[in-house]
Amino acid sequence: MTPDEMKKQAAEAAIEYVESGTVVGVGTGSTANHFIDLLGAMKGKIDGTVASSEASAERLRGHGIQVLDLNSVGQLPLYVDGADESNRHLHLIKGGGGALTREKIVAAASDKFVCIADDSKLVDVLGAFPLPIEVIPMARSYVAREIVKLGGTPILREGFTTDNGNIILDIQDLKIMEPVKFEEQINSIVGVVTVGIFAIRPADALILGSSSGIKQLP
Ligand code: A5P
Repeated sequence: MTPDEMKKQAAEAAIEYVESGTVVGVGTGSTANHFIDLLGAMKGKIDGTVASSEASAERLRGHGIQVLDLNSVGQLPLYVDGADESNRHLHLIKGGGGALTREKIVAAASDKFVCIADDSKLVDVLGAFPLPIEVIPMARSYVAREIVKLGGTPILREGFTTDNGNIILDIQDLKIMEPVKFEEQINSIVGVVTVGIFAIRPADALILGSSSGIKQLP
């Protein structure tokens, strides 16, 4: 089974969490795209979606699914999204696609965050995947120096601008032993909009596709 087939398997399992007559929070990336495509087949049963990126909004609309402004719908019952890494506590690294800020907002505004991935994303220690941070452009050098003080190596994601008009620094060489503390530390650097650690608000369920079938945590 290919990684993409495993992602689809996880997305199929997440569809079971979607309840009729609700607005669904939808993430970004290749795994979330499978979820969007499956949602297209049941669009008559839901009241619409909130998207975590312009790319996902466009894909949803392509299926004829209504995309709503988060401000007009309030708290969401469910958010489904992928991740770049997860540990066993369901602390995540996200933002490989650069959508981390809107992803964190939708996750914060959702009762249940179901994370879907292939099983290669489950790791013992977060940080092998470069940690994305979204930064206000004028703060780029300052934030980079502060990251170096914390032991990281920040690399500018060349030619990339977020949906919010900001830049991404990808921090290499990390072993994140205390994800909640590290998320708080990076959050407190002036000029950082969002750090791609989702530990203060982790996922509530992790569905992993694998060649031996679906695995779920907790
Ligand atoms: C988007 O910014 C990310 O947080 C994605 O959720 C993450 O990169 C997972 O992407 P894939 O599903 O493509 O692996």
